[in-house]
Amino acid sequence: MYRSHSCGELRELHIGQKVTLSGWVAKTRDKGFVVWIDLRDRYGIIQLVLDEDRTNAELLEQARNLGREFVIQVKGEVIERASKNANIPTGNIEVLVSELTILNESKTPPFTIENETDGGEDLRMKYRYLDIRRNPVKDNLIFRSKVAMEVRKFLSGEGFIEVETPYLIKSTPEGARDFVVPSRMNEGQFYALPQSPQTFKQLLMVGGMDKYFQIVKCFRDEDLRADRQPEFTQIDCEMAFVEQEDILNVFENLTKYLLKEVNGVEIDSFPRMTYDDAMAKYGNDKPDIRFGMEFGELNAVTQHKDFGVFNTAELVVGIAVPGAAEYTRKELDALVNWVKRPQIGANGMVYVKCNEDGSFKSTVDKFYDQDDLAKWAEATGANPGDLICVLSGDANKTRSQLSVLRMEMATKLGLRNPNEFAPLWVVDFPLLELDEETGHYHAMHHPFTSPKPGQLAMLDTDPGAVRANAYDLVLNGNEIGGGSIRIHDKDMQATMFKHLGFTPEEARAQFGFLMDAFQYGAPPHGGLAFGLDRLVAILGGQETIRDFIAFPKNNSGRDVMIDAPAPIDNAQLKELSLKLDIQE
Ligand code: AMO
Repeated sequence: MYRSHSCGELRELHIGQKVTLSGWVAKTRDKGFVVWIDLRDRYGIIQLVLDEDRTNAELLEQARNLGREFVIQVKGEVIERASKNANIPTGNIEVLVSELTILNESKTPPFTIENETDGGEDLRMKYRYLDIRRNPVKDNLIFRSKVAMEVRKFLSGEGFIEVETPYLIKSTPEGARDFVVPSRMNEGQFYALPQSPQTFKQLLMVGGMDKYFQIVKCFRDEDLRADRQPEFTQIDCEMAFVEQEDILNVFENLTKYLLKEVNGVEIDSFPRMTYDDAMAKYGNDKPDIRFGMEFGELNAVTQHKDFGVFNTAELVVGIAVPGAAEYTRKELDALVNWVKRPQIGANGMVYVKCNEDGSFKSTVDKFYDQDDLAKWAEATGANPGDLICVLSGDANKTRSQLSVLRMEMATKLGLRNPNEFAPLWVVDFPLLELDEETGHYHAMHHPFTSPKPGQLAMLDTDPGAVRANAYDLVLNGNEIGGGSIRIHDKDMQATMFKHLGFTPEEARAQFGFLMDAFQYGAPPHGGLAFGLDRLVAILGGQETIRDFIAFPKNNSGRDVMIDAPAPIDNAQLKELSLKLDIQE
């Protein structure tokens, strides 16, 4: 028997008991006549003690020579600690060691295995198994497991069936590039790894499964960010005989359930906002609504004077930043430079200080008088003490620049409280999105999303105006889920493919199986998928999903621990009928 108890579970009630423990040596402190060892396992840390009075010399010597991260087993008696440590749950007791066995030695770890480590990101990723021994990473993985478990509990309770779908498939268009896998048995042919199980879950609806879910890996070859990994996990769901309202209800309830079970927070309010409103009010289709700073459009109150920059702009728009009128000139200059950075790309920023006495001081006082500025304050909802920040230019670009500024100011002002949760449904997304580069429309969600009833004809006349039965669930400014009501009629699906620029032959070659299935009684259906990594990170009060994934990839898509991706040898290439010709 390796252990009678875990390191973290011992308390005062165990005093006097003989215990056997196994774990890692977190720390040894050698005072000469006494040696203390912090022994760690997943459940916590317990202090071991050996001293000249109570321990034989050989054992004391053995303890003294233990290295950090040695794996040991000890037997001993739980005793009361002389100097207690209120910071850890086992802090009132210690274990007086009578036997010690080294189960395995360890090299000195390349970074300290403490909550606050001296290891940089790269080093920690290379030795991720050591990083996982640290509480912040370990606790995140335990948290993730709990969320996944609660998801399964809730969905099973609602009658959802978990079905696995294949990973070696044909391309599913979700807007990213595919990862492909060569087939040895089918020379020159490739599988694609699923960007999502989208088509399979729709086929499960044709198969009559009625309510499906799957906690499933998805693969997308796209540029990485804090909230994006090339392989990530979805809670993928689909339901038959439902309308949008039914789906929003079920997944609103799932989110409420998770917030309650996992965070102990009761949230009733799941406001809904159209995509158009979200863009106009927040410049963003995933607004963080934990704080205000809504956009105020200022064209009407700025374009009547001689200020050419505003007069020639498609949009003049501002936000009132609470309490920022007291910013110094230096801070304001820094802010202006910040919005002019290439990552944001504004040409400049006009600002107005709303003084406590009701007067205004702006960078454009030459052009605008106090009455003008009072109108700006009204349009942006500014109060005395606020700073109005105004950007102008191309409408879409300006909105997204101001949206970045809004988030930055909220972060600076501490308005993005990770313990506060503000979910939001964004609905009525456009069906199609214009690709500025190619001039072609592509599906904003995916090609299986149905247009709003009665809008199909508009596909010919004004494709950009057609709205879809598509929705996203936003939590604290992050898109944690998205879905749609699907097309279930084969003719409508064919029309959709046509509008997306597929010839009938191309549509058949890529999606013939789905169009065929739709000929055999496809029920009306729809669904959604949550990004589990994002959901877990946000419920955990953070936004970087890497911290909630056991073995994540770095920003270049590499696993630096196993050193992947890596070249394969010629024999393997040959077997796969692949020839690398970098020259081409
Ligand atoms: P969508 O593409 O919106 O929809 O993806 C659903 C959710 O998955 C998460 N997500 C990601 N998380 C981490 N890294 C990524 N690279 C990544 N990409 C997406 C997001 C997103 O909201 N088949 C549809 C769903 C449906 O229509 O039912 C789909 O995949 O949180």
